Amino acid sequence: MTVNKSVAGFSAEEASRLAELDRTHWLHPQGDLAGPPGTVPQLIIVSGQGATLTDIEGREYVDGMASLWNVNVGYGREVLAAAAAEQMTALAFSSAYGGFGTEPAIRLAAKLAELAPGDLEVTYFASGGGEANDTAYKIARLYWKLRGEPERVNIVSRIRDYHGLTYAATSATGLANFWKGFEPLAPGFLHAPAPDPYRYAGEGSPGAAYAQALEKVVLEAGPQTVAAVVAEPVQGAGGVIVPPADYFPLLRKVCDKYGLLLIADEVITGFGRTGRWFALEHWNVQADLMIFAKGVTSGYLPLSGVMLTRDVHDVLRSVKGMFAHGFTYSGHPTACAVGLRNLQILEDERLVEQAAERGAYLQKKLQLLRELEIVGDVRGLGLLGGVELVSDKATKKSFDVSEGAARRVWLEALERGVIVRPLGGDVIAISPPFVISEQQIDRIVEVLYGAIQSVGGQLRLPD
Ligand SMILES: Cc1ncc(COP(=O)(O)O)c(C=O)c1O
Repeated sequence: MTVNKSVAGFSAEEASRLAELDRTHWLHPQGDLAGPPGTVPQLIIVSGQGATLTDIEGREYVDGMASLWNVNVGYGREVLAAAAAEQMTALAFSSAYGGFGTEPAIRLAAKLAELAPGDLEVTYFASGGGEANDTAYKIARLYWKLRGEPERVNIVSRIRDYHGLTYAATSATGLANFWKGFEPLAPGFLHAPAPDPYRYAGEGSPGAAYAQALEKVVLEAGPQTVAAVVAEPVQGAGGVIVPPADYFPLLRKVCDKYGLLLIADEVITGFGRTGRWFALEHWNVQADLMIFAKGVTSGYLPLSGVMLTRDVHDVLRSVKGMFAHGFTYSGHPTACAVGLRNLQILEDERLVEQAAERGAYLQKKLQLLRELEIVGDVRGLGLLGGVELVSDKATKKSFDVSEGAARRVWLEALERGVIVRPLGGDVIAISPPFVISEQQIDRIVEVLYGAIQSVGGQLRLPD
């Protein structure tokens, strides 16, 4: 691990004072409240360049996660800082309510219509993925009320989907650890099984079986009560689950059969992460609503949104009076200016094509991990990878949760200067910036190999 004091520029005293202030005053998102000091690595990141992060002590890390699957164009992009400064100087913020608008938001909405597949042509802006999910569910319900079917209120998502942690998005999320303590959940959310080919134990095609399992949930609720299906094209936080190739085409058919809206949550997958601009394009499936966030600005400013097809928008336009939904920061001009500039970087540098190429390299290299004793599955699409750890390869038996296998690998890798992310179900996620080099991918895989081997040795393996 390289130590670079001049980059960090903090004395040991300053660093330790900041760490103390952090522990005392900051309630971290998804923080570990119970852990005694020392069990949670406290990292204060001070700078980034390309795919590399530097912490307050000058230690450098290859960021195998693009922070939270979002810094796709990499760190240190001065043109994005310049776009923000220019817009802030001209007009940092102005209302977007009613008929008020700003140039960057208008231009970004038009640009998104050009990039998004099919007739997804109209954008509602928000700031984060959770807000955008809540918005999509509200739009789906409003759509059916306007179409004279007010009883269509249920939203079907899948186990292991992650849609964010606002109230409705928490309820749509299919990961019970995000529900615990915050119940009751919002009414009207149903969960179908995750389309996980590795864990599929049935007969025949897993894609068809999982689509049927979702149809069963719709039938049990009564199709006339269901407004929409929301799905991540590749489940991210739930374990990097790439569905079987026939799953989404079949899911689209289920939606068409019962007239349900299909909402694609492309918060992680949108804007190139899987090697296509949007992941549903891999399977030629068209959504009625599409949620985006993260990659639209590469995380340089918070921005998200929901795209609607022309048809859905036409129905909304029949509303009497105002569209009674909105956030202060919907269509924030500075965030939109940065979004526009970020999309230009993706186009100018052909970074979506690069994500496809480097992604193929990453997927090939990750396969090397399969030879390790505790690696059960290695999967992914483009620059999105997942490595599932198991205590028994043959039976696919999981480790006991208390053993924290993925967490241990994460800590070992961190110690060796590589950032990955441990997910529930003992999956290690990899989702680097699109500008990652092949050498950096080699480093990630090499470090993971060593870390998994070492953790495998620590966890007493059955003979
Ligand atoms: C697929 C998906 N949807 C929604 C969200 C929520 O986004 P946010 O944290 O910006 O609210 C996330 C965040 O990781 C996500 O991965």
